[in-house]
Amino acid sequence: MVLQALALCRYLESNQEIVDLHDKVVLEIGAGTGLVSIVSSLLGAWVTATDLPEVLGNLRSNLSRNTRGRSRYMPQAAELFWGCKLDKTFPRSVYKYDYVLAADVVYHHDFLAELLVTMRHFCQPGTTLLWANRVRFQSDLVFTENFRKTFNISLLEDNGEIKIYSANVKEERGEVMEEGLKMENEMGAEESKNLKELKLDSKNVELQQRKLLTDATLVEEMKEVERKAELQDENQEGTEDDEMERLNDVNKETFEMEEKPVEIGGEDADRNSESHSTEKDKQQDYPRSWAPTIYYMPGKEIYHFLGQKIIIQESLDSYGATVWPAALALCKLLDTPEGRQQIHLCDKSVLELGAGTGLLSAVVTLLGAKLTATDLPEILGNLTCNLNRNTRGRRRHEPLIAELFWGHNLEETFPRSTNHYDYVLATDVVYHHDYLTELLNTMRHFCSPGTTLVWANKVRYARDLDFINDFQKCFNSSLLTERDEVRIYVATSRETEDAREEKATDTEKSHNGDVCEDLREIQRKTQNDEVKSSQSSLEEKYEELQDCKASQDH
Ligand SMILES: C[S@@+](CC[C@H](N)C(=O)[O-])C[C@H]1O[C@@H](n2cnc3c(N)ncnc32)[C@H](O)[C@@H]1O
Repeated sequence: MVLQALALCRYLESNQEIVDLHDKVVLEIGAGTGLVSIVSSLLGAWVTATDLPEVLGNLRSNLSRNTRGRSRYMPQAAELFWGCKLDKTFPRSVYKYDYVLAADVVYHHDFLAELLVTMRHFCQPGTTLLWANRVRFQSDLVFTENFRKTFNISLLEDNGEIKIYSANVKEERGEVMEEGLKMENEMGAEESKNLKELKLDSKNVELQQRKLLTDATLVEEMKEVERKAELQDENQEGTEDDEMERLNDVNKETFEMEEKPVEIGGEDADRNSESHSTEKDKQQDYPRSWAPTIYYMPGKEIYHFLGQKIIIQESLDSYGATVWPAALALCKLLDTPEGRQQIHLCDKSVLELGAGTGLLSAVVTLLGAKLTATDLPEILGNLTCNLNRNTRGRRRHEPLIAELFWGHNLEETFPRSTNHYDYVLATDVVYHHDYLTELLNTMRHFCSPGTTLVWANKVRYARDLDFINDFQKCFNSSLLTERDEVRIYVATSRETEDAREEKATDTEKSHNGDVCEDLREIQRKTQNDEVKSSQSSLEEKYEELQDCKASQDH
């Protein structure tokens, strides 16, 4: 950890009115030991800390031990190679960040061009990139110059040694939006929305291709300039070794400044514990709202439900890596006789959406249900492991575990005709993500007449209330209970058996596009109505004219 990270943390803490991270989606590039991510998380952000795979173990452990029980959102750690397969691993259409943070990512390494490409990739319209930097080498200046050319930047802080820049996107996404608006104006009102979307899509692809080309050129160009700068660096007085020594001193100093704010594991920790009293006075200038008490928790949680011990192994890779409050609330409800009377699961076929670590799945299986637990593919390994180890030898029915992307190929993978569930369970599936429509469609897909949908969620954002509204419109629903800020709803389909059967015969409709189809139908009807009404008003006008003409002739 070096001074830049510390400077950025201090900046974030003391300028919350300028950079308000509360409830913001934040990505850190080159998170290292994780201090910036930890502080951002303690300031209320939803953080993804990225780094190379070999760094993630320590990073995760630092994130977990310093934020658990104290942060609004559990930070996650993810692998990210700068400039490498960004469109595959972090597609821009899916991953949008309010803030991208980077501290001390520019130093004497060979990936400066890739770093800039990575910054560009994540910096979309609406994203603010905060970069804390300390200029040490000639090549750092080259990077700064390219950074200036790439973004609209402003200098937020400059303490003589460390500069904190804020940057926003200059380029092509803005173009796409403008193009979109232009097209909208050019097209007649009758031209269909679909056509517009198609055109925008192809425009997007074109721009994306152009972007890939420019990324490659940029990398090449930067490499060339870097090579020249490197030569200059080599000729400069003071070798790299000196610099490394100085850096080590900086590291030492940094740790000395930490009274024990956040417990960061890593090789340096012991080395630096000796002399922090000498820097105590300096610290007083920086009150630390994130200064926590230190405790360590392993990534394993032990629960007791239904008189059984349930051990949940967590992983920090994603949102499905930890037990969320709604799962806990529903498990607590099912642990009571009243709860089991209201939601009677024994021998019932049950589907769980977004099962995550599998705590609820385990409880449901122990209650005798025939469970199918579903989630994204990367979650299934840990889910399978937790579910099996906690239910083997204690279950009536062996649970199934299946991949399910909300709103994706539902009719192919889970045809309604053969997949009927008595219960569909979903806990904390509504949070800050872009698939709320797909989620609602998935709920609709599985909630047939005769199915009880149980949805438990902590209400966090105003957007959650919108989802609740849509949910209530889609289903016959009622609030079963509210506990620990988690609302538990039960819902049933608004459709009757007959209506559903009728629908099932319509293969086009049954293809997961019901909502779109319904919408199109409404649009068609509205258009027809509009045509009819303008036709009848034309007829009226024609009659009036005829009358007028007749009276004139007369
Ligand atoms: C906030 S976690 C909740 C996990 C668990 N239900 C709990 O309460 O502990 C949300 C879960 O939904 C899953 N999920 C998110 N987006 C999804 C999608 N598009 N399709 C399927 N599952 C998704 C995540 O992998 C994660 O396991």
